[in-house]
Amino acid sequence: MDVIASPKQTQDQIRKLRGSGESIGVVPTMGALHAGHLSLVEAARAQCDIVVVTIFVNPTQFAPGEDFEQYPRTLEADLKLCRQSQADIVFTPSADEMYSVNSQTSVVVSKMTQILEGASRPTHFDGVTTIVAKLFNITSPDRAYFGQKDFQQQLVIRRMVTDLDFPVEVVTCPIIRDSDGLAMSSRNRYLSTTERQQALAINQSLEETEQLATSGKHTAAELQTRLNDLLITADGIDLDYATIADAATLLPANSDCEELVAMVAARVGTTRLIDNRVFQIR
Ligand code: PAJ
Repeated sequence: MDVIASPKQTQDQIRKLRGSGESIGVVPTMGALHAGHLSLVEAARAQCDIVVVTIFVNPTQFAPGEDFEQYPRTLEADLKLCRQSQADIVFTPSADEMYSVNSQTSVVVSKMTQILEGASRPTHFDGVTTIVAKLFNITSPDRAYFGQKDFQQQLVIRRMVTDLDFPVEVVTCPIIRDSDGLAMSSRNRYLSTTERQQALAINQSLEETEQLATSGKHTAAELQTRLNDLLITADGIDLDYATIADAATLLPANSDCEELVAMVAARVGTTRLIDNRVFQIR
């Protein structure tokens, strides 16, 4: 496994591999790797000749006052996990290498980034799309792997790929959960024992909402009310949003939607967690 910090060197090496006919899969991450990230590496390993993992805590997707400084940085452990997962290349640039002081360009997806996560974190998605566009240009992947865990993020990236004609297939992988149901996240390590217990209400409310939806006789509006009620009455959960949306567009759900997504963002203590479930109404 090659560990490369230089964008230029990574680009050159991958272009050479592509030139000799190898297919490239990229897994963009911010490190502090857990089984959720590794499931993306595994999917890439199964579908591509060369698996590239990128590890970069991207400063431009954090707003002032968010957890950029505290964000866990565990490079040695991450590299070990990448090696065990049979990654071929790990790209570990520094912020200086990724963003020149003269940088003046960003990639912006408009409407879809204004709602939900975008409403709570107004500059977040501009940072995400800009870094992912750069990572695509550096790693020239055939396929790029993202988690359903960040449901809006994978939709925003799909929009960018379509709108800007990136020759990349976006693959979305299922949410990996701990045995107690909590969606795995690098931020879970901020939770105290009590907070972790309280955080389980997020998955439980999503599960109950899905069960209601699939048991029939419930409109999207009724599901919305139930999800909200479950979360506002849950101990220790400071709800940011709980929304039932059309899974294709994130617009408010109605009876014509093929698939719905129930999305939740909440603070537990000082930690902001997100989770979601995709289902159909019967
Ligand atoms: P990060 O939070 O490190 O996540 C990297 C990828 O792992 C994302 O696609 C995310 O959805 C996926 N992931 C995280 N937890 C998961 C889980 N429990 N199950 C399945 N997949 C999971 O998302 C980012 O980094 C950044 O915004 C990035 C795309 C790298 C741009 O900086």
